[in-house]
Amino acid sequence: MAHLLIVLRSKGVKGLQGKTVLVTGATSGIGEAIAVRFAQEGCRVAINHRRGPESAQETLDKIRAACGESVAVALVQGDVSQEADVVRMCEEVVEKLGRLDILVNNAGIQLEEPPTPLKAMILTK
Ligand SMILES: NC(=O)c1ccc[n+]([C@@H]2O[C@H](COP(=O)([O-])OP(=O)(O)OC[C@H]3O[C@@H](n4cnc5c(N)ncnc54)[C@H](OP(=O)(O)O)[C@@H]3O)[C@@H](O)[C@H]2O)c1
Repeated sequence: MAHLLIVLRSKGVKGLQGKTVLVTGATSGIGEAIAVRFAQEGCRVAINHRRGPESAQETLDKIRAACGESVAVALVQGDVSQEADVVRMCEEVVEKLGRLDILVNNAGIQLEEPPTPLKAMILTK
């Protein structure tokens, strides 16, 4: 497994070069790491942030540190629980980066509640 990862990292993942990817929830944690990794593979990366653009700065800085200025990056605000935001966000990605090839549906929240009494209100939080 480790050998496979080293080979993939040194050769790059076939077919990713030049693709445009939108990573939702890319301001922290797993989403941030995914955004950086796609940038390292030569993708154009759209960083989705739910709050203000400053919340995406750390991810942007990490991409610049790893890949320099040559990688095209766009910040796109949107709450993925709001359909209108999602539609606008996808349009913005195409507008800013030319196309949209890959969506990483990462945004989410971890609930400490047991699943049975979950109310719809909580799921739309
Ligand atoms: N870490 C784990 O062990 C684990 C296990 C199972 C599943 N997951 C899932 O994997 C994903 C990433 O986990 P993580 O640990 O990296 O979580 P995290 O650090 O809490 O990051 C979640 C990201 O999603 C964003 N987000 C939340 N609700 C959003 C919304 N409605 N619209 C847009 N963005 C939204 C957050 O933005 P804000 O900061 O603005 O809220 C944040 O950038 C989540 O879906 C999580 O449920 C994680």
